[in-house]
Parts: sequence; C-alpha cells; structure tokens
Amino acid sequence: MSVETVPVDLAGRSYVIRIGRGVLAQAADEISALGKVKRIAIITDQTVSALHLHALAVPLKKAGYNVSSLALPAGERTKSWACLEQVSEFLIENRLERNDLVIAFGGGVIGDLAGFASAIVRRGLRYVQIPTTLLAQVDSSVGGKTAINSPRGKNLIGAFHQPSLVLADTALLDTLPLRDMRAGYAEVVKYGFLGDRAFFEWLEAGAWQEIFSGGPAREEAVRRSCLAKAAIVARDETEQGDRALLNLGHTFGHALEAAVQYDAARLVHGEAVAIGMRQAFAFSHGLGLISGQEVTRARKHLEAVGLPVLPNAIPGGVGTARSLLEAIRQDKKVSAGALTFILVKGIGESFISRDIDPDVVRAFLEKDIRRDTSGA
Ligand SMILES: NC(=O)c1ccc[n+]([C@@H]2O[C@H](COP(=O)([O-])OP(=O)(O)OC[C@H]3O[C@@H](n4cnc5c(N)ncnc54)[C@H](O)[C@@H]3O)[C@@H](O)[C@H]2O)c1
Ligand SMILES: [Zn+2]
Repeated sequence: MSVETVPVDLAGRSYVIRIGRGVLAQAADEISALGKVKRIAIITDQTVSALHLHALAVPLKKAGYNVSSLALPAGERTKSWACLEQVSEFLIENRLERNDLVIAFGGGVIGDLAGFASAIVRRGLRYVQIPTTLLAQVDSSVGGKTAINSPRGKNLIGAFHQPSLVLADTALLDTLPLRDMRAGYAEVVKYGFLGDRAFFEWLEAGAWQEIFSGGPAREEAVRRSCLAKAAIVARDETEQGDRALLNLGHTFGHALEAAVQYDAARLVHGEAVAIGMRQAFAFSHGLGLISGQEVTRARKHLEAVGLPVLPNAIPGGVGTARSLLEAIRQDKKVSAGALTFILVKGIGESFISRDIDPDVVRAFLEKDIRRDTSGA
C-alpha cells in the first residue's frame, strides 16, 4: 500500500494527513505514535457504523486501548445542541481525559460535531479525524474548524480546534452513494477554480471519472486538495484574510441551503457549492471580470460530473432574490454594509472582494433564479 503524507504546518498545533487506500488498517500504529493514550472514544453515525466501525474498533481493542463508541443518526440535523450534549456527556461518562483520544469517524457532520465536543469537554481533548466521505477527506477534516448549527443558521456555534492526526482511507469511499461522491467532488474542483488551473485541467481531462470509480487519481485528488487547503490554513488559520478564498461558491451556496432549510433531500452542501460556484463565475462575468468562455467551461464541467448548476434545479424552488439576499447578509462572512464575495478573473484565479453592492447582487439573483435549465 502506498501512503502519502501531507503536513499541516501550524507551529505547536502541527499534524499530518495520511492518505491511502487501506490506511485505516494502520490506525493503531498511527495512534501509538501520538504518545500516551489509554481511552479512545469513537464518534460516528449509524450508516458509517454499520459499514465500517468494525474495521476500526476491533484492531484498536486488540492493540490494548479501552475503546467506546457512539453512533448518532446520519445527517445534517445531527449538528445540533442536543447531539453536542449527547456526545459531550458520552465523553465525560467514559472518563476521557486530556491524554486520551476522540476519533471522529464519519463525514463532515460527525467531524464538525465530534471536533467541537473535543474542543470544549475538559477545555480540550485531543482528537483524530478519520473522514469517510470525499467531502470530509478533501475539506472538512483539515483545518480545525468545528461547529454545530443554530436553528438560526449553519455553523454559528463552534471553535477552532486542530486534530492531532487525519487518516484519509480512500477505500472507505467505495461505499459512498453517488450523490455524496458528487457533492464532495464539488469541493475538489473548487481548489482548481480558486487557485490551480492545472489541477482543474487534470480533473477535466478525465481524472474526475477515476476519482469516482476508485483509481489512483482518487488518492492524488485527495492529496492535492489537502495540500491546497493545508497551505491556505497555514497562512491564515483563523480566517483573517486568505482563508476566505476557500469560500468560493459558499456565500451563494449557504443562502441556497438556508432557503431549503437544510433539507438534504432537496439539496446537500456540495450541490449548493456547485450552484454557488457557477453563480460566482456568472456574477464575476456580469462585473466584467472574466470571459464568457471561462464561465461556460467551468459550468460545463460541473454539469458533466452530474452536479446541479442552477437554483431552478432545486426541487421546490428557493424563494425570492430578496430572501436569498437576506440570507447572504446574515451569513457570517458578511461584514457590515458592503458584501464580501469570492470572485474570479479566470479558472484558477480567485480573489476576495469586500465592497460588493447588495443591489447588484439582488439584480443578479433576480435574473439567475429565473434562468431555466436550458438557458446559458
Ligand atoms: N469544518 C469544515 O471546515 C467544513 C468544511 C466543509 C464542510 N463542512 C461540513 O461538513 C458537512 C457535510 O459533510 P458530508 O458531506 O461529509 O456530510 P455527512 O457527514 O452528512 O455525510 C454524508 C452522508 O454519507 C454517509 N456516509 C459517510 N461515509 C460513508 C461511507 N463511507 N459509505 C457510505 N455512506 C457514508 C453519511 O452517513 C451521510 O448520510 C456539513 O455540515 C458542512 O457544514 C465542514
Ligand atoms: Zn464547503
């Protein structure tokens, strides 16, 4: 088995990401390298638990660790106050202490929730991310952002808390439903759009199909995505500047997610990001920043992969331009007055713009949400 290592450089909080098909089998060895650990609490969801918990928990028990596990319902609604309480009490009840370890074993929902519980129980427990979705392997498990949702909005309650290790076993993705695979892919291609044209061209030329089918391009895509994210996070851990580039497509995307009340049956995060990125390209074009060919090329690729690109594709609609704009204003990335957007000058050339006029956004959204699936 070949294992790739991506370091995340954060002074006293540095760690490594190990990427490989089958790397889960090395979990016990990797954890023993973290020093003295007695107890391990695995937090997972019921879907992942049924498919993969055995492969993680049994070797850890054999290695002599005191292992407990908690499986929560799958889905975004699990990022709640109630589940945070449940996980926190579980960790206290199982007597996890500073030297022990929490493992977040699941997609971004479990990573965000278990990571946040680890940040606050006993003022901070160590935790390891073992991401099981493509989205979590290329994005949410890296960088230390943890959160739950408030009834008033996504990710509003959280903390920065870096993991001690990330293990990305790409074989775990073999059981991932196609829809979640596509959603995760939206975050992969995002790295190309925001700063790496050559990566985009590699994906577009056919690597994307191999990511889905499970060839070596999958490991390579996870590695390059993690490298891109690690570089940005190392420059700007707490999002004072550059890290905001990672939000390409997310300002529009979060508004769409809010419009469907985070109903995953209608829209999942990665789909919202795909639509949001296409909107960011089109919006940039409207501002005269990018050529029509570039916009079309980005859009065509998202469509080829099977991702939605138009708000109109969302079952049940997304309300009005006014309500979307209201959601954008409430998004935490918006500072008072003018709106902040990640815009593009070309594929691979994004930048942060902090002075976008809300009226211009509303006019864009009015046209955009009426655009039908056949429109350009
Ligand atoms: N912290 C961050 O920096 C960050 C970044 C991006 C996204 N996020 C968060 O991540 C969440 C989305 O993550 P997600 O898309 O991984 O969602 P998810 O955790 O809900 O997983 C998606 C679905 O896949 C299932 N699943 C997971 N692994 C599987 C496997 N190996 N085989 C079969 N099924 C599997 C899950 O049970 C779930 O039903 C959102 O809450 C978003 O806010 C956080
Ligand atoms: Zn995202």
